[in-house]
Amino acid sequence: MSGSQVWDDVDFYFSSHLTPDDDVLQAALRDSEAAGLPHISVTATQGKFLQLLAEIQAARNILEIGTLGGYSTIWLGRALPADGRLISLEYDARHADVATRNIARAGLDRIVEVRVGPALESLPKLADENPAPFDLVFIDADKSNNPHYVEWALRLTRAGSLIVVDNVVRGGRVVDADSADPDIVGIRAAIELIAAHPRLTGTAVQTVGSKGYDGFALVRVLG
Ligand code: SAH
Ligand code: DHB
Ligand code: MG
Repeated sequence: MSGSQVWDDVDFYFSSHLTPDDDVLQAALRDSEAAGLPHISVTATQGKFLQLLAEIQAARNILEIGTLGGYSTIWLGRALPADGRLISLEYDARHADVATRNIARAGLDRIVEVRVGPALESLPKLADENPAPFDLVFIDADKSNNPHYVEWALRLTRAGSLIVVDNVVRGGRVVDADSADPDIVGIRAAIELIAAHPRLTGTAVQTVGSKGYDGFALVRVLG
């Protein structure tokens, strides 16, 4: 078996046992596809991973940067208590519309709020509202802005909060120090910012699966 075939098969094996078919999540993917959204949401095994992280965190408030069709949003929202809150920031109004419908079908519309606009405009507005600190921040938007998103996450969290950054490996391209790709430059700058920051400690985990070879950075906010 080639690398990607065995990665697909193993992802299917784990997801069929551990994250079995779920009408609401299937419908979210189906409607995202029908609306022409790109196929870049997290996989089911990764979505469950995010849900578990939020549960381990006993999260009550979650911030997501990059909603797309709301697939990861639904996984994260399911970790929250009925009075929890998830704010998800999305640049593209069309993506936000699809997400809003998917989130409502998941019964999460009282918990989840999708805010449309460039995240670097939404984040200062959000900060002005003095929200309760977010227990978990999931960064999954335009990778070139990752250092800014990590800085904002730090401002909007508390000691003990968890920051998760998606797509930090990009098929291995993260190690290309000479890359001119703004996404790679942004991913590397965020990793270096996390490494150097006195209030952040973290690691990165490489992943393979049906969406290829990528990874997550997991970062804890210190006091
Ligand atoms: N978290 C989703 C996938 C997000 S894909 C999931 O796993 O299901 C990245 C999303 O970030 C896209 O919908 C894209 O429109 C959005 N995005 C890109 N640039 C952005 C920006 N500057 N501000 C907010 N969202 C942005
Ligand atoms: C891309 C973005 C993502 O957030 C992701 O998980 C996979 C791919 C992309 O822009 O290619
Ligand atoms: Mg992603």
